[in-house]
Amino acid sequence: MSEFFGTAIIGYGGMGRGYHRKWLNGPTLGAKGFRLCGIWDIDPERCRLAEEEDGVHAYASEEELLADENVKMIVAAVPNDQHFGVCTRAMKAGKGVICEKPCPMSSEELRLMRQCAEENGVVFTVHQNRRWDADFHTVKNAIASGALGEVYRIESKVYGSRGIPGDWRKLKACGGGMILDWGVHLLDQAQQYTKGKKLLSLYCETEYAHGGECDDGFTVTLKYEGGLTYFIEVKTNNYIEAPRWYVAGKDGTLILENWNCDGRIVHKVCEIDDAAPIQAATGLTKTMAPRTKESIETIPLQVAKTDVSEFYINVRAAIEDGAELIVKPWEVAETTEIMEAMFRSAEENIVIKEFKFQQ
Ligand SMILES: NC(=O)c1ccc[n+]([C@@H]2O[C@H](COP(=O)([O-])OP(=O)(O)OC[C@H]3O[C@@H](n4cnc5c(N)ncnc54)[C@H](O)[C@@H]3O)[C@@H](O)[C@H]2O)c1
Repeated sequence: MSEFFGTAIIGYGGMGRGYHRKWLNGPTLGAKGFRLCGIWDIDPERCRLAEEEDGVHAYASEEELLADENVKMIVAAVPNDQHFGVCTRAMKAGKGVICEKPCPMSSEELRLMRQCAEENGVVFTVHQNRRWDADFHTVKNAIASGALGEVYRIESKVYGSRGIPGDWRKLKACGGGMILDWGVHLLDQAQQYTKGKKLLSLYCETEYAHGGECDDGFTVTLKYEGGLTYFIEVKTNNYIEAPRWYVAGKDGTLILENWNCDGRIVHKVCEIDDAAPIQAATGLTKTMAPRTKESIETIPLQVAKTDVSEFYINVRAAIEDGAELIVKPWEVAETTEIMEAMFRSAEENIVIKEFKFQQ
């Protein structure tokens, strides 16, 4: 690895300034030789903020940024419809590229972006940072521990109540809507859980609760071989939270409540005949009677520690030493195809059962 690894950010808005700058210009990566050479944004006000308030160099144009030989890697943190142009121009200039999610507007765009990376011999990946979310790893580790027995249902839910933030995210032409915004993260996580399992079908419903042209919420049910159902729900018109994660195994249940990873596993320790009828509203039920303490155990969740700086370090290693990317373009191709199938499923109200999934 070289001592100095020059990076640049194209698009200095919420994500470029508020997130990537803090990593690429921050102490953790700085100590490893990462240097933010500068930024470019089409909005002069964003360039002014960089120079005057953040002490970050703003290039005079994208061309000037791409011509800077110190820049080995760029992050494209522009609206979704701008990803293709910014990324392919950077690749043609020989830069390693991190594209923000959702990387392409279509499978065809992604195919061309991958082709461009290959033709120019550069590294190309996507910022699927939520692969490092602590809640995701906490659940993944709990499933792997076997405490739930065979897992047959995973529910992953994310809720807001204020609709889609009021900018390009509300416009179809810019790649707006919740499937592309949050769906891509939650599908990327689902793909990690279901590695090696064949996707058999999906069914998606979209919501337009706030009345715009883009989906402001959706549900999707993905069915995998071996009997696993993976359910994802994103809403922006919800005022009572449900748990972030619910996992059903044959021997236990997991609930993870929130981003702090509060939650628990309750699992069966033995099978005894402890079911006695209880009064449930106006009826009696034995089926729904809670278990007695003797046959179950409650285990607190072991909160996972993660370090998202691994993502940038991996991309640098791929650029400098040919290391294998953590976020692989073929994985992005799969989630892109799934999102396209979701739009079709919702539009035509059908279950989709055929997927191409070309690596
Ligand atoms: N990975 C995550 O967790 C995460 C979170 C939020 C946003 N994002 C993604 O980051 C990207 C940017 O989102 P945002 O919230 O920062 O948007 P934003 O609107 O806050 O910022 C986008 C910036 O890009 C600039 N811009 C637009 N077109 C440009 C171009 N052609 N060249 C240079 N600059 C250009 C705009 O002027 C603006 O400053 C999107 O793809 C979004 O999906 C990812």
